[in-house]
Amino acid sequence: MQPIFPTVGIVGTGAMGRGIAQMAVQAGSQVLLFDLLPGAAEAARAALADTWQKLVVKNKLTPEMQAAYLARVSLASAVTGLAPCALVVEAIVEKLDVKQRLFAELEAVVAPQAVLATNTSSLSVTAIGAALQRPAQLAGFHFFNPVPLMRVVEVIAGLKTSPVVCQQLTDYARQFGHTPVSAQDTPGFIVNHAGRGYGTEALRVVGERVADFATIDRILKDQMGFKLGPFELMDLTALDVSHPVMESIYRQYYDEPRYRPSVITAQRLAGGVVGKKVGEGFYAYDKGVAKVPA
Ligand code: NAI
Repeated sequence: MQPIFPTVGIVGTGAMGRGIAQMAVQAGSQVLLFDLLPGAAEAARAALADTWQKLVVKNKLTPEMQAAYLARVSLASAVTGLAPCALVVEAIVEKLDVKQRLFAELEAVVAPQAVLATNTSSLSVTAIGAALQRPAQLAGFHFFNPVPLMRVVEVIAGLKTSPVVCQQLTDYARQFGHTPVSAQDTPGFIVNHAGRGYGTEALRVVGERVADFATIDRILKDQMGFKLGPFELMDLTALDVSHPVMESIYRQYYDEPRYRPSVITAQRLAGGVVGKKVGEGFYAYDKGVAKVPA
């Protein structure tokens, strides 16, 4: 099957960008990676190569497919290098003005009919598109971490988004083997709104010294059937990503007390204790295995 978007740009090649890149390559697209941080796009390509190598070792991928996948990944050294892309997906820092600037730059280099997509967790698609000449071409395309395993993707229309763009993204998500869900352009969309209490309320329970974080995680997994406890989830997402999301949703709902971010995560973020990716979050990580700090 031909991919709906033959050439796809990924801007921001961290946890989310590289996961989306993997799915796009596996759906048959050529992928161009761009990141502002020197060496980050190269690291993402190396991580993708490692992922496919592991699948070959497990006999889940043939060496021929591995070679074909790798050949579909290229690097762009500047935003202008994304000019040939039919779709560009952004997975950069969760800041409205930074995203607006990036999309204005992108819009100036891609073809008029190219689709621009934001993986924002919480910001308004309409607000991001307000800085564009062609806001109809921008939509939310919100994946979850880790992208290859978490099969839901929210497709979000801003006030000016073209329905054709949403349909293209919906069909493309199906080519990934994902389950697209249409969501309204509201703070946190569906998952980060409906699931808001999972983190914020658990932080309040810790703040009130009702129970420690590891007990809360264990009980919610054992008794409520969640796969990850709220603190394990915060460690996986990383507080440099999730704390700004908490702040953004709180502010957009006019300081709704239910969504108030926690001083616990603010302090940990300030101290760089952000989660699994730095080896230290609520849990300490030794080769990726979580331990409660002594
Ligand atoms: P990350 O910190 O792992 O990666 C972000 C990457 O973007 C970094 O490599 C950084 O150098 C690059 N970057 C930052 N500003 C840039 C710019 N102006 N131009 C180009 N590259 C830039 O973050 P992660 O976890 O991949 O999240 C990225 C976005 O995806 C955020 O908007 C976040 O809210 C959203 N998101 C994150 C989820 C998660 O669980 N981590 C889940 C769903 C959405």
